[in-house]
Amino acid sequence: MSSKYIKRFIFVFFIISVFVTGCSIGRNPIESGKAVTMYIASDVHYLADSINDKGTAFQNFWTSGDGRMLNYADEIIDAFRNDIKNNKPDVLIISGDLTTNGEKQSHLALAKKLEKIEKNTGTRVYVIPGNHDIENTWARGFKGEERYKTPTISASEFKKIYKDFGFREAISKDKYSLSYLAAPSKDVWLLMLDTCEYHLNKKAGSPVTNGEISENTLNWIRKCSKMAKKHNTRIVTVMHHNLFNHNTRINYGFTLDNSEKAEQVFRECNLNLVFSGHIHIQDIKYNGEDNDRIYEITTSSLLMYPIQYGVLRYSSLTGFDYSTSQVNVDSWARDTGISDSNLTDFMSYSRLFLADNTYKKAYTALSKTELYTEEEMEAMAETLSLLNVNYFRGTTNNIKDSVMNSIGYKLWMKAGEIESLENLRAYILSMIPHDDMDNNKLHIN
Ligand SMILES: [Fe+2]
Repeated sequence: MSSKYIKRFIFVFFIISVFVTGCSIGRNPIESGKAVTMYIASDVHYLADSINDKGTAFQNFWTSGDGRMLNYADEIIDAFRNDIKNNKPDVLIISGDLTTNGEKQSHLALAKKLEKIEKNTGTRVYVIPGNHDIENTWARGFKGEERYKTPTISASEFKKIYKDFGFREAISKDKYSLSYLAAPSKDVWLLMLDTCEYHLNKKAGSPVTNGEISENTLNWIRKCSKMAKKHNTRIVTVMHHNLFNHNTRINYGFTLDNSEKAEQVFRECNLNLVFSGHIHIQDIKYNGEDNDRIYEITTSSLLMYPIQYGVLRYSSLTGFDYSTSQVNVDSWARDTGISDSNLTDFMSYSRLFLADNTYKKAYTALSKTELYTEEEMEAMAETLSLLNVNYFRGTTNNIKDSVMNSIGYKLWMKAGEIESLENLRAYILSMIPHDDMDNNKLHIN
């Protein structure tokens, strides 16, 4: 064969390879029979430094939040990247709410960090949007005492910014949302579902919390399931909104608006392992009989105590094994030569921040009633604080008995007729676990 024909042959082969692999040269699926390790993080809520001078407006913003350690967002993500570099999981999944409020600058800066992860570790990154990420009318930067409007992004910009983190290598894409099907391994595929309703944000004037899966997308899911069956592949489903209620009180806007329909289709399609975020707590729920059970794991926010993520291992011999792990901020800070004691003892610092935050809210509400002694208020605030910290971590089962026997809990239960305390009392009841489920561990054959 002449050199001209050899060159032509190489060129044609190159074009075919690009077409077949969806432009993902060097990222062939992990071979069948090989174990796969996936890290699952959620609700990163990143805020770029370029729009944040960390002045008064920002300090007021983050300290009045729900306990997200926004002041150390960069450090947490860098420490997480270090964990990934050390352990080299095959896959990193982020189940939405990548940014604080959909700021374009935050998306661009986070995408750069994700690019570094793929380049330095070989870990394949897959993302989906959360309700805060697209067309967010609350996108703000912080300067001195001012919050100022900053550009947000459209759905097509989201696809463009995160093209290397799922969209470009998808083996199927939904025409009606940003959902896609990815095949990091020949044994396990990822059904990455966009459950957000950002098209309603402008009219609502705020990021719509609710989510649903449209009929069209449900039909596309059915097609994906058929494809997986044909290839004898298991599917792990990932979405931002929840399939099941994870709290008896806090579920409207968190659980999909059409969760019953979605559950029915998931069951029909054998989608029995679902990961979600949104509610910021670590929790595992299931529904259905032994042989037809759907498990849903909600991953807590990466920015909140205990700064944790999920680790999912799949092996064709043993099935799926799930556990959680905490980002090693403390040792990353020490190794990097950082002297900030908040960072070198970050577990205690972030725990104390969430505990204090909850304690103060409870104490303020209790003192306004003028019904309790100082000792009683302290005991009650302490009970709520302890429960809340464990609730976000998914460990309320470990403290359930001691909490229910505490003076603080008994006083809360007696506070039923005090109207101004009704919400906090109901929240306490909703955090008490009603089963023995371990929220940080799961095995599925
Ligand atoms: Fe969130």
